[in-house]
Amino acid sequence: MISIRENIVRLDTPNTTLLIDTDGEIPQYLYYGKRLPPLKDGCAFLRPEKERTGALLDRQILSQFGRGDYRESSLLLRDADGSVASRFVFRKAETAEKPAAANLPGARDAAATVKIQLCDQPSGIVCNVFYSAFEDTDAVAVSTELLNEGERPVLVGKLASLQLDLNGNDYTVSTFDGSWAAERIRHDRTVGNGLFVNQSKTGSSSALHSPMFLVSDTEGVFGFNLVWSGNHKETAESNSFGVTRIIVGESDFLYEVRLGPGERLLSPEAVMCRASGEEELTKAMHAFVNAHILPKRFSGVPRPVLFNSWEGTGFCFDAGKLVSMARQAKALGAELFVVDDGWFGRRNDDASSLGDWSANPEKTGGGLEALSARIRETGLRFGIWTEPEMISEDSDLFRAHPEYAMAVPGRDPYRHRNQLMLDITLPPVKEYIVRSVGDIIEKSGADYVKWDYNRNMSDLPANGRNAVHYFRRYILSLYEILASLTKKYPDVLFEGCAAGGGRFDLGILSFMPQIWTSDNTDARERLDIQFSTALMFPQAAMGAHVSASPNGFTRNSTPLETRFNVACGGNLGYELDPETLSIKDRRTIRAQIAFYKKYRALFQFGTYYLLERKHASEICGYLSVSPKKNAAVGSVFVRNKETGKGNFRFSFKGLLPDAVYCVTERRQSNYASAHTFTATGALLMYGEIGLDGIFEDADAPENSNCIFSRMFVLKKIK
Ligand code: DGJ
Repeated sequence: MISIRENIVRLDTPNTTLLIDTDGEIPQYLYYGKRLPPLKDGCAFLRPEKERTGALLDRQILSQFGRGDYRESSLLLRDADGSVASRFVFRKAETAEKPAAANLPGARDAAATVKIQLCDQPSGIVCNVFYSAFEDTDAVAVSTELLNEGERPVLVGKLASLQLDLNGNDYTVSTFDGSWAAERIRHDRTVGNGLFVNQSKTGSSSALHSPMFLVSDTEGVFGFNLVWSGNHKETAESNSFGVTRIIVGESDFLYEVRLGPGERLLSPEAVMCRASGEEELTKAMHAFVNAHILPKRFSGVPRPVLFNSWEGTGFCFDAGKLVSMARQAKALGAELFVVDDGWFGRRNDDASSLGDWSANPEKTGGGLEALSARIRETGLRFGIWTEPEMISEDSDLFRAHPEYAMAVPGRDPYRHRNQLMLDITLPPVKEYIVRSVGDIIEKSGADYVKWDYNRNMSDLPANGRNAVHYFRRYILSLYEILASLTKKYPDVLFEGCAAGGGRFDLGILSFMPQIWTSDNTDARERLDIQFSTALMFPQAAMGAHVSASPNGFTRNSTPLETRFNVACGGNLGYELDPETLSIKDRRTIRAQIAFYKKYRALFQFGTYYLLERKHASEICGYLSVSPKKNAAVGSVFVRNKETGKGNFRFSFKGLLPDAVYCVTERRQSNYASAHTFTATGALLMYGEIGLDGIFEDADAPENSNCIFSRMFVLKKIK
């Protein structure tokens, strides 16, 4: 997988090859693309034309300020005396252990790692760039490390994880941006000659700009992501010499780490992947996340069908209501009941009690032990919501420990959703969180914990140290807390959440096997969010729920079967009050859950295909195919039906061309018919399948902005 011969570092993944030339001051990328056969006659002709243009034609593995290269750089060091200059020079390349640092998550089970070492002579700062390859995916993990082998401290103003310089300046950059309830909406732009920045300065990976990032050319796509949950920055900069520099890593916004003699700083891990197209990229990234990021204990483990109380009750419930909801959820086939916000302290709205994690006796019927016992008696497992990183000013915790809040003494802090954040960098706060979450788990025997995070950072305290690397210390403290809790409670299924999907990243997924994708459960809008997320994150990482119709936010009405077909794109759950359901809807949900359970392994772990990538078009869908391609399940959606237009067609993907499949439409309660037909995989993939009768949906509400959908099951019969 990795070889180092005649100054060339070669890294092979199943389908790609990366070549780095170490014969020079700074190692250069020579090639990153389709897998190559053994190099017989060398590859010197791939080198940049150094003499003519200096650094501007270089395709370096790292860059530093100055030395004739004034593009965005991956590294910025300042001497303790304030001077700024560095000259890193290649020292050696060797195979190595994958680097690790306390509490910093990273991909596990790499097949091989190479370390490329450079050194800045006068300061004695050593820089190691690590590339790790894996047996079963084309994703490559990259991180950068600084070691101070000198005698004086340095200030690190930037340490990116990865730099990839590419030939060409006609790349399209795709970012995934948005806000609460509109996370990871895709935007494509051409970089041209210029600098493009994708960044989060919120303190979290954020709903504003996700760290997932694509750079496409006519040959395919480069995908990037980061195993990190805090501020991040990805840049693409093209110069007039036709070189595009990609830098991926932690943001340098308010970033400065003092590195004393003998000290070491490891960047978060970046992930890069070269693929012939987005379908291949998705395959590689899903394989990577499933096998190398999600906690081993949950990798490939079926996720339960849950009922969550939030959209059904909000803050307004008592134990009787919850138990009755759970009883009905059980009758519908659910496996887990989640008590969301409102069960603790005096929490009847969002203005109080965060931090007071003891149960409200009236609302829980005597405490968590009593409530969870009653929920379990219905035959369901018990799940509970908490928001451990937060504090309400109206809480016993704040009254006892105002110093626990993230605030700057003497300043009125910025409040969001009426709450402040806890300063989890303080050891007593860390201990408080570990203790209080542990207490919730032990009292309730929770099988599942939803870990929410409903605001971003402001008012960064110094606490006797420099607030400029507060963001970093915060995330490392979060990881320390998560590492301790997940080690102590390895069987608890944690679901990450940040006002929906505001912290949907590989760092969180290293500890929590799934994340609530978005608070937006409007089926139509949800499709885009799920499709974009699924580009780089597997289905089993995405929480996806059926909620009531009309939707609480958009007021759009959508047939129950369509809401289900959308939610099957992730881990299925329901988030509505089952007591409000009609007899017909109950019958429908019972059939839906039974269907989902039957095909759960396929839905959650099958190879995922988007059936149409252009989200603006009328037809879109997804298909999950079994590893041997003998079964598949998925849904097709038609949106924006316009009068006088028709001929809606689609094709399947990922099948065996020569095999014969039986295609069955799931019998939906809103259609009289459910077609079945047989055809070869080739015809199903290359032909165009009609959606006759899809607009005869009996439940399509009048005056609604609705979408039409069908679910298909494919079985190989020959
Ligand atoms: C935001 C989450 O995304 C919701 O699912 C819900 O848990 C609320 N917080 C509760 O306050």
